[in-house]
Amino acid sequence: MTTIQQLDVDLKGKDLLTLADLASEEIIGLIEKAVELKEKTLKKQFDHPLKGKILGMIFDKSSTRTRVSFEVGMIQLGGSALYLNGNDLQLGRGETIADTAQVLSQYLDGIMIRTFSHSSVEELAEHAAIPVINGLTDLYHPCQALADLLTVYEKKGKLAGLKLAYIGDGNNMAHSLMIACTKVGMDVSIAAPKEYFPDSAVTAKCEKFAEISGAKLVITDSPTEAVKDADIIYTDVWTSMGQEAENEQRLKAFHDYQVNEDLLDLAKKDYLFMHCLPAHRGEEVSAEVIDGPHSVVFDQAGNRLHAQKALLVEILKD
Ligand code: CP
Ligand code: NVA
Repeated sequence: MTTIQQLDVDLKGKDLLTLADLASEEIIGLIEKAVELKEKTLKKQFDHPLKGKILGMIFDKSSTRTRVSFEVGMIQLGGSALYLNGNDLQLGRGETIADTAQVLSQYLDGIMIRTFSHSSVEELAEHAAIPVINGLTDLYHPCQALADLLTVYEKKGKLAGLKLAYIGDGNNMAHSLMIACTKVGMDVSIAAPKEYFPDSAVTAKCEKFAEISGAKLVITDSPTEAVKDADIIYTDVWTSMGQEAENEQRLKAFHDYQVNEDLLDLAKKDYLFMHCLPAHRGEEVSAEVIDGPHSVVFDQAGNRLHAQKALLVEILKD
């Protein structure tokens, strides 16, 4: 198994709004740190490097994994976390993002936010005196992609040189995976109906990352083309949070994009099936695939804890 070489990471005081802002060495460094923290966590060895630190977690959308893994992570690191429902804050009654950022900076050591518009998170980060972590916006889901790289690394022993095929909506998850893969030298093919292709500005950015890392980025409307010889097959829901009114139209548009056994015949024999969860069996993925032997979806969910602990230690350290 190839090991990731020891790398220095200095993210102290920084925000994590998108993995595009991190150097590939910093992403690899975080994965390396996550591997180390995971080993300790599994042995119940906790060092409490964030003793006394408090993370505020603002949620404008539902969450199971993000909420619980961030809160448990802070507790295991010796700190604590506050759950803040966006609608219960004065923010929900029109207090500005800038004022909210400055007020929360008086009490907290860091903010994790899950919301709709990515520009709101950028605005929050601009006005906060403390680090801001993106826990999902309509544009990106960087913490999930970080945990996914950790999962791939654990299962395959390497990252560069592998091929990930993402089948489905060109959404926040697709964007963060495109960035993560092209940064670390993994080939990535996205298959989506043309009208649901990833954002062209994100694609252009990833083309540049791919040039630097030597990765190959393909955007196609053909699931079979994407899946061919892939090491990892990834999918996500067809209707993301906030798009519920489009559900019927999306079910029709994505009809031919289900990840099922027939499609997977074209992948490498030892492929991994991945999904950020929550999943809709019978829509974006068949039950046999997500509940089958190649599926690593619960490892991914578990790795949210370890990847985010690495991030929290690096960002919130003294
Ligand atoms: N994958 C993920 O972010 O899950 P939650 O929506 O449950 O946080
Ligand atoms: N694309 C999904 C991801 C959920 C973790 C959404 O935004 O709802």
